[in-house]
Amino acid sequence: MRLKGKVAVVTGSSTGNGAAIAEAFAREGADVVVHYRSSAPEADRVVRAIRKLGRESVALRADISVPEETNALFARVKKEFGRVDVLVNNAGLADGSIWNAPIGEVTREMWLRVFSVDVFGAFDCAQNAVAMMPKGGAIVNVSSTPVLAGDTQGMVYACGKGAVLTMTKMLAKSLVPRVRVNCMILGSIRTGWLRWLDEAAAGALLSSIPMGRFGEPADVANLAVFLASDESSYVTGQGIVLDGGEVTH
Ligand SMILES: NC(=O)c1ccc[n+]([C@@H]2O[C@H](COP(=O)([O-])OP(=O)(O)OC[C@H]3O[C@@H](n4cnc5c(N)ncnc54)[C@H](OP(=O)(O)O)[C@@H]3O)[C@@H](O)[C@H]2O)c1
Repeated sequence: MRLKGKVAVVTGSSTGNGAAIAEAFAREGADVVVHYRSSAPEADRVVRAIRKLGRESVALRADISVPEETNALFARVKKEFGRVDVLVNNAGLADGSIWNAPIGEVTREMWLRVFSVDVFGAFDCAQNAVAMMPKGGAIVNVSSTPVLAGDTQGMVYACGKGAVLTMTKMLAKSLVPRVRVNCMILGSIRTGWLRWLDEAAAGALLSSIPMGRFGEPADVANLAVFLASDESSYVTGQGIVLDGGEVTH
């Protein structure tokens, strides 16, 4: 078991990649805080699955775009678990209309909405977690391949994820050697966002992936386990691409 005895907080772990990461961490021996904002029944399902594995788990709600809610979330974590060994900054705003907005229709409000969650929220979570993280702790952030290759859609999202990659490198150098900070740079993973694409767009996207399939949340979870565990003890400040070979650089 690669995370035996660790306490992990996975933000946005009621659904999609976050739920897969939370369950994989529990299979590797971690107790897991399942954080959610709106998906309470889904968060409860993940908690039940983790408890079935014999690990401790609790579902805690917070809108991480609101600093007071994030602070209260980590105060609860401190009270219930005493520390955080691993933080996965997985929560991200999911809004198809922002994703699909042509350049001419991008608004300042869209920038603020996305950055408030993906960038400011992720930083607030890291700041809170680091304050109670012992030596050997790990932070895993989540970015996206347009950060490396550009794209025709998702302007605001991609810029937010670019900030997340930079934040990874800044935190890594600031916190080394006590805490390692790395970032998963994800391609197209089969989660809820695929519903934003019509059939033609989904087909075109699939044909651009050399591996011939979308990524699965389980693929993301495998990488998250590696980056959270001591197996990656000499890796920090890195963005690791997980995209079926779509982006080569
Ligand atoms: N799937 C992909 O292809 C892909 C590619 C690149 C990057 N990513 C990134 O991977 C991460 C997970 O995405 P996913 O595809 O698994 O989508 P998802 O299932 O929609 O997960 C997003 C999570 O973020 C949470 N969230 C959203 N706004 C929040 C807020 N204000 N406060 C707290 N939590 C909030 C949601 O919680 P509630 O549902 O409880 O509101 C949800 O659990 C995101 O950061 C996403 O940008 C995904």
